[in-house]
Amino acid sequence: MRWLDIVSDFVAESNMNAKFHDIDGYIQNQADLDLLRFITCGSVDDGKSTLIGRLLYEAQLIFEDQVAALRNDSRRHGSQDDDIDFALLVDGLAAEREQGITIDVAYRFFSTENRKFIVADTPGHEQYTRNMATGASSAEAAVILIDAVNGLSVQTRRHSFICSLLGIKHVALAINKMDLIGYDQEIFQRIVREFKEFRSRLDFHTVTPIPLSALLGDNIVNRSPETSWYSGPTLISFLETLKKSEENKEDFCMPVQWVNRPNSVFRGFSGTVLSGSVKKNEQISCLPSGETAKIENIVLYKDSLVEARKNQSITLTFDKEIDCSRGNVIISSENQLEVADKFQADLVWMDQEEGHQGRSYILKSSVTSVGVSLTDIKYEYNVNTLEQLPSRRLTLNAIAAVTLTLDKSIPFQSYSENRRMGSFILVDRYSNATVAAGMIKFALRRSKNIYPQELNVTRNERERLNGHKARVLWFTGLSGSGKSSIADMLEQELHNRGIRTYILDGDNVRHGLNKDLGFLQGDRVENIRRVAEVAKLMHDAGLVVMVSFISPFKAERDMARSMFGEGEFLEIFLDTPIEVAESRDVKGLYAKARRGELPNFTGIDSPYEEPERPEIKLNSGKDPIEKCVQAIVDYLGY
Ligand code: ADX
Repeated sequence: MRWLDIVSDFVAESNMNAKFHDIDGYIQNQADLDLLRFITCGSVDDGKSTLIGRLLYEAQLIFEDQVAALRNDSRRHGSQDDDIDFALLVDGLAAEREQGITIDVAYRFFSTENRKFIVADTPGHEQYTRNMATGASSAEAAVILIDAVNGLSVQTRRHSFICSLLGIKHVALAINKMDLIGYDQEIFQRIVREFKEFRSRLDFHTVTPIPLSALLGDNIVNRSPETSWYSGPTLISFLETLKKSEENKEDFCMPVQWVNRPNSVFRGFSGTVLSGSVKKNEQISCLPSGETAKIENIVLYKDSLVEARKNQSITLTFDKEIDCSRGNVIISSENQLEVADKFQADLVWMDQEEGHQGRSYILKSSVTSVGVSLTDIKYEYNVNTLEQLPSRRLTLNAIAAVTLTLDKSIPFQSYSENRRMGSFILVDRYSNATVAAGMIKFALRRSKNIYPQELNVTRNERERLNGHKARVLWFTGLSGSGKSSIADMLEQELHNRGIRTYILDGDNVRHGLNKDLGFLQGDRVENIRRVAEVAKLMHDAGLVVMVSFISPFKAERDMARSMFGEGEFLEIFLDTPIEVAESRDVKGLYAKARRGELPNFTGIDSPYEEPERPEIKLNSGKDPIEKCVQAIVDYLGY
């Protein structure tokens, strides 16, 4: 499922329960009309609430009782004397919808004689970037509000950039509060010129500037006599007549949800058509194998179809056996879909917890779910100036260009070609929270050009030569918990028994391979990622590898574990209380940290996440080192 669907389904549903309880029926009645989805961008100060209130009023979507209540409220609380204060209407709904909605995008529905509309209304402040991205991702047009008195603001630039990034091609530049500047054409044109210059770096097809007053209704539905110098459309006619960009032709694509084999004769592939359509006798291929076949039958319940369309759940049978299983994707032979496992993408970071280079997540696309590592943060955008800034970590609402490396290849199209096939979300492996929304820019060539090289001497053969199994013993614990001393004694013990070993020690590796890394969270993530890769190579070389790193984060330890097979990776937790480790303080680092001379010290001002289910837990604060070593030797059974 597309990330915006996940979010917006939920939000739309909550909204429907708010005021427009009859919305299902309403939409049904309007079913024949063409639908335009648009987003409004701007802050309350720019007059956004007033504008939306005005649109709903003019489209006569507000019920009579609401209008009466609004007149009363406006008299009592409004800022517009006896007239209706439209901002109160929208803000009133806003207060209502705040209950129980986590992501604050309100979808409002209205229609005119010519078109129906869904408008995504999102808060304008910087802290709501993620909400705006959610709203923009399904919109075909944007109404960007500018306060004529203040001109182009930082917010305007930010909103425009996000709209462009999320693939919106058509913009109405609603220059509002024209009444406050005496409907001055000069000022209007100055703002338009300034926007034009900024827009040259964005990817809009059309920008339509409209001088208006949401408050007084100038150029919203009716042409204003005050702007006789303006010959362009009113806001409503812009929205009603906007020619939507041609949707890219959608090729057939269906992920295989299960292989249906009720008996030895029938073999069908079931799933829901994600895009395009498919007919009997058409040639398809199955990814990733790339094998092709002809469609023999399209089965829907008991019927057989000639053609199946988007969103239908069907079962396909082929004219021959091909390599195709659950999680694979069936596409038409002309389909442009590529497969790759390494991408450059844009991310909008949506989580309070920061994102770090090297950390691994689950990537969910409309086709599949797959493990992914945030290999590189190339740069973060300064959304206000479009500058590209170096960055090592992603904070809430950050927008960044990143490289992602997936555990396996997936079929994709770039976001600019196909919003559905090119978007994805990143999900935290533990909390299951959505941490980022992303848009694929392109596959990195390397993923297509680098193929794993098959080698003749395998780990199995090296293990046979060594006379023992290879293993990774992952020691984790605070500085001073005894990791290095125990690993050192254990290595002597194993060495004496003829076991081939090697120790990867944090302090040593940080003098060489990882000497570019410090102790900020992102550096530690990268530190562990690299050492896990080295451990993997050494394990493949047939060794018993002892990794002795604090490795304070559960996510990276589990990432390391996921690189190895059952029984190959043992997590050994040195459970020494901080007081004991600190009292030992062999290197004097705890004292330094307490004096504030060593920031981000684990256990003091940087966290240590204890393992929940380590294979071996040692009471290394109390037990003598010999006893700890013996416990490991016994466990290993070499
Ligand atoms: S890890 O957190 O990234 O896994 P690693 O095991 O490589 O840490 O390095 C820890 C060693 O670096 C400690 O044993 C200690 O000697 C030293 N060190 C220096 N500064 C710090 C710090 N801020 N926090 C923890 N260890 C530090």
